[in-house]
Amino acid sequence: MVKITLNGEQISLDADPQMPLLYAIRDIAQLTGTKFGCGMGLCGACTVHLDGQAIRSCVTPLSAAADKKITTIEGLGNTAGDKGVHPVQEAWIDHKVPQCGYCQSGQMMSAAALLATNSSPSDDEIEAAMQGNICRCGTYPRIRSAIKQAAGKAEEA
Ligand code: FES
Repeated sequence: MVKITLNGEQISLDADPQMPLLYAIRDIAQLTGTKFGCGMGLCGACTVHLDGQAIRSCVTPLSAAADKKITTIEGLGNTAGDKGVHPVQEAWIDHKVPQCGYCQSGQMMSAAALLATNSSPSDDEIEAAMQGNICRCGTYPRIRSAIKQAAGKAEEA
């Protein structure tokens, strides 16, 4: 059994500790907002937070999450106080960022992790933080605009 805290809830998973965390999240915990993209930690679709850090869950063994806090896109809103919607999610909606949408939960998780440590990132800092999240639909300009809006809201909060 591997114990993790998933979106604020402590759970025990009866799974191989070497299983990719992504599989545990999707196939055992049944939270399918986090996507399988490349399976090699290169595209960012599987991004979740491990103790607040953006990580690639497809190349992270479940054992690395033992006794730690995992946040997925399903729980991101709960990290933003009592509103239930994270400023990044609000900005994504306002800017109509997604096209096909496949990469977008990973994009939002990376953006939220960036803003948690840098509430007013420059274009270069956004570029550096987001370069590991690939979007085959090319939504990058809207992603950048949304991050800037979310940063503004974070500053107001
Ligand atoms: Fe389609 Fe990014 S919105 S891959």
